[in-house]
Amino acid sequence: MKLLILNGVNLNLTGRREQSVYGGESLEKINAELAAFARSKGHEADFFQSNLEGEICTAIQSAEGKYDGIVLNAGAYTHYSYAIRDAIAAVSVPVVEVHMSNVHAREDFRRVSVLTPVCRGEVLGFGKKSYLLAMESFFL
Ligand code: DQA
Repeated sequence: MKLLILNGVNLNLTGRREQSVYGGESLEKINAELAAFARSKGHEADFFQSNLEGEICTAIQSAEGKYDGIVLNAGAYTHYSYAIRDAIAAVSVPVVEVHMSNVHAREDFRRVSVLTPVCRGEVLGFGKKSYLLAMESFFL
């Protein structure tokens, strides 16, 4: 299987911003671990991060026919991006939504995801392990 691990706005700051919420490891380090995990299971993972909503939409569109699944942490776009929601709905590639933090235990606006209804499933609250569990869901 070939997975796309897609990170949205501000996820490039992982390891530096709000370490008590998102941990102290950089996205590069987390991605290296995810790549090794995929390989250890006989699969492949590619990685893309962007702070731009349209680039996230383009990455989802371009995944059609190229990837078996997308693991998506859209960051704050999760809570209001109808454009990303429509991009997910437009492709047949299954998307699993991921959040490192438990968004339900935080501010009220984080309890709403406009993406979940068009995703295959959601993993949240386990730090970097949220990504690993979401990947595992494709491998099972
Ligand atoms: C996040 C949760 C979002 O509410 C927030 O805007 C992020 C990260 C998470 O991984 O917990 O940027 O998606």
